[in-house]
Amino acid sequence: MNLPKQVTIVEVGPRDGLQNEALFVPTDQKVELIRRLSETGLRRIEITSFVHPKAIPQLQDSDEVVKRVAPKPGISYSTLVPNEKGLERALQAGVKEIGLFVSASETHNQKNVRMSISDSLKGFQRIAQRALAHDIRMRGYVVTAFGCPYEGRISLERVEWIVKEYKAMGIHEIALGDTTGMANPLLVSRWVEQIRPILGETDLALHFHNTRGTALANVLAALELGVTIFDGAVGGLGGCPYAPGASGNVATEDLVNMLEEMGIETGIDLDKLLGCARYVREILGKDLPGHLLSAGRVQWKGSEVGNER
Ligand code: COA
Ligand code: ZN
Repeated sequence: MNLPKQVTIVEVGPRDGLQNEALFVPTDQKVELIRRLSETGLRRIEITSFVHPKAIPQLQDSDEVVKRVAPKPGISYSTLVPNEKGLERALQAGVKEIGLFVSASETHNQKNVRMSISDSLKGFQRIAQRALAHDIRMRGYVVTAFGCPYEGRISLERVEWIVKEYKAMGIHEIALGDTTGMANPLLVSRWVEQIRPILGETDLALHFHNTRGTALANVLAALELGVTIFDGAVGGLGGCPYAPGASGNVATEDLVNMLEEMGIETGIDLDKLLGCARYVREILGKDLPGHLLSAGRVQWKGSEVGNER
């Protein structure tokens, strides 16, 4: 196997995770979670969303969260932006990285942002021009890229079309999202192989939900093709309120555990990250799906076996 030596993990728990919780997490606790995550070695954290407060009431305090997070040097704190109004708020808050998002499924995009895919993309063209003028880094999500709970299979042509549109806007990174855990390793390999040639200099990130238990297998398939940016949510939090059956992202600590055990560097202190997962469990007052949270990290009891490729 020809695996990368190093990967970048993007923590999306404070956004993708908390947006789907029944409970509104108080701003203080959100800010504290982001502070703790900033101490783990993570370099990228998606902290909130500048969406309509009625669409995602759990993140209605996003302006306040951004204001109160004390940025740690070397860490990028990004926010989601659905439209120009969202960009205004991001500019106001002084955000340096934004995530645009459009679904590869017309039905899901309509339900999620009340726009057609074309209208989302048209809006992004204006947003991208302004964001570039302000030196803001842009990630472009392709939501439901591997399957949609409403439309079923998503064609590769559809994904390619959106990726090309994003590229034409000067996007820095594409994130293919498996919003409701419909991907499998073979599908991931196919999508990565087909999409990569059109990416050029644009980075590729993969965003897996573990709805059906395939997220880590999907990560491995992508690693074998040299993908080096993966999203995770601490504790395995997450989901999309506009996608029935959506559940958590792959737990960041499970992802880091697998990678580090394979000898792939993440730069993340697993014990500190596990501490963050326990903190989330505490503030939500419920069990979370992450495996390491219940099993603990691997202990090799003095033997060195298991750390080599
Ligand atoms: N932030 C705050 N308010 C916003 C906004 C934003 N990003 N975008 C629009 N609004 C306000 C407008 O100012 C307008 O306010 P007014 O009635 O006081 O004039 C009102 O919302 C309606 O504007 P409109 O453009 O018609 O928006 P909409 O009601 O069609 O909603 C979205 C569109 C995209 C804002 C909304 O569907 C949304 O936020 N969706 C997010 C879904 C999401 O985050 N899903 C999970 C991530 S995958
Ligand atoms: Zn997601």
